[in-house]
Amino acid sequence: MNILVVGGGGREHAIIKKIKENSKVKKIYALPGNGGYGSDAQCVPIAATDIEKIVEFARSNEIDFAVVAPDDPLAMGAVDELEKAGIPSFGPTKSAAIIESSKVFSKNLMKKYSIPTARYEVFDSPEKAKEYLEKSDYPIVIKADGLALGKGVIIAEDKKQAFDAVDSVMNDKVFGESGNSIVIEEFLEGPEVSVLSFTDGKTVVPMVSSMDHKRALDGDKGSNTGGMGTVAPNPYYTADVANECMEKIFLPTVSAMNKEGRPFIGCLYLGLRLTKNGPKGIEYNCRFGDPETQVVLPLLKSDLLDIMMAVQSSTLSEVSVEFSDECACCVVKASSGYPKKYEKGYEITVSADFPQDALLYFAGAKNEGGKLLTNGGRVLGVTAVADTLEGAVKKAYSAADKVKFDNEYMRTDIGKRALSADI
Ligand SMILES: Nc1ncnc2c1ncn2[C@@H]1O[C@H](COP(=O)(O)OP(=O)(O)OP(=O)(O)O)[C@@H](O)[C@H]1O
Ligand SMILES: [Mg+2]
Repeated sequence: MNILVVGGGGREHAIIKKIKENSKVKKIYALPGNGGYGSDAQCVPIAATDIEKIVEFARSNEIDFAVVAPDDPLAMGAVDELEKAGIPSFGPTKSAAIIESSKVFSKNLMKKYSIPTARYEVFDSPEKAKEYLEKSDYPIVIKADGLALGKGVIIAEDKKQAFDAVDSVMNDKVFGESGNSIVIEEFLEGPEVSVLSFTDGKTVVPMVSSMDHKRALDGDKGSNTGGMGTVAPNPYYTADVANECMEKIFLPTVSAMNKEGRPFIGCLYLGLRLTKNGPKGIEYNCRFGDPETQVVLPLLKSDLLDIMMAVQSSTLSEVSVEFSDECACCVVKASSGYPKKYEKGYEITVSADFPQDALLYFAGAKNEGGKLLTNGGRVLGVTAVADTLEGAVKKAYSAADKVKFDNEYMRTDIGKRALSADI
């Protein structure tokens, strides 16, 4: 089979490495991929958002199955167009991807179907938003409606910060049209959990839970990033919590999307906070998370391509989806300065004694004159699997030391929060 994967980050590298394990796979193309994928895939310089070119490429290269990984092409209808061209594809249609691309839609969905979430109001006028903020309790959470590269959420500690957030999102339009409407919601306290799930619109199969580390600096300080590291499973996500989430959040969400005439087929990502009043939905994503995928897929024992094909053909209940009992840790190595200003173009070297059982996923790398160079904020992720979380963390850090580039930066405390979890 010839497979096409749309996207070019660490998440897509993890998907590609896993799909490669299927013996039916002959060739994998990554659009656009990145120079670090090496022999794992053939990278083709077509942007993930250039839907017309993606479809044209799929048509003329005998693609048997496509996986669309990032949010933007999904929200733009990449899966609709590929399927129209006769290419079976993994990922939600445009009408279902709205569950991530509009926070107003997802909050209203949760309210309409009594899915537990933070109390909220929607505003499309900055004046009305400020009137509401005058009489609110703090901290409070302000979210731009549309996609904003993970930066459209502001946790305001006081009224001044909240007013500034409204001004920058709604008046200065720092996120463009994404800020035409905003959601203002109650700040929820409690451990955060990410759960990815496979669903074909009928069956829902949650994957192993994970914990992201979004802030740039140790101790969860500094700016929000795309994610500096992850561990799986998330110790707070016990079997009881998982059952409660299945019953109150997962199944109701999939059934709500069906009732709305927007059946969700693909990977549904649930961002949760475990509050003292039970688990609450913080957000939905319509795709695999990055870097959650880099710890979840290494623990998947079943065949990823078979599962994805079963999701696409609405036969998910017929395939087995099994995860190992082990633990995984992914440490992201970034360019110093990320997520703000950083330099790129430094050579990346992987030492010959990089452990054979550790995994290296490239995100911001390019190949130039036979050398691998840094080419982004998050450069790569190193994942290790072990019997215990402690073991996985240790192994991941020791493997991360075998990969080097100038100006590198990583957090030194990935997994610490999970290891000290009081459950
Ligand atoms: N109501 C809330 N209470 C407390 N924290 C919140 C709340 N809403 C969001 N957050 C925090 O802000 C982060 C980002 O929020 P959210 O996930 O809605 O934004 P996003 O831009 O869609 O993020 P992502 O890039 O992960 O998709 C959450 O992971 C969570 O830590
Ligand atoms: Mg999101």
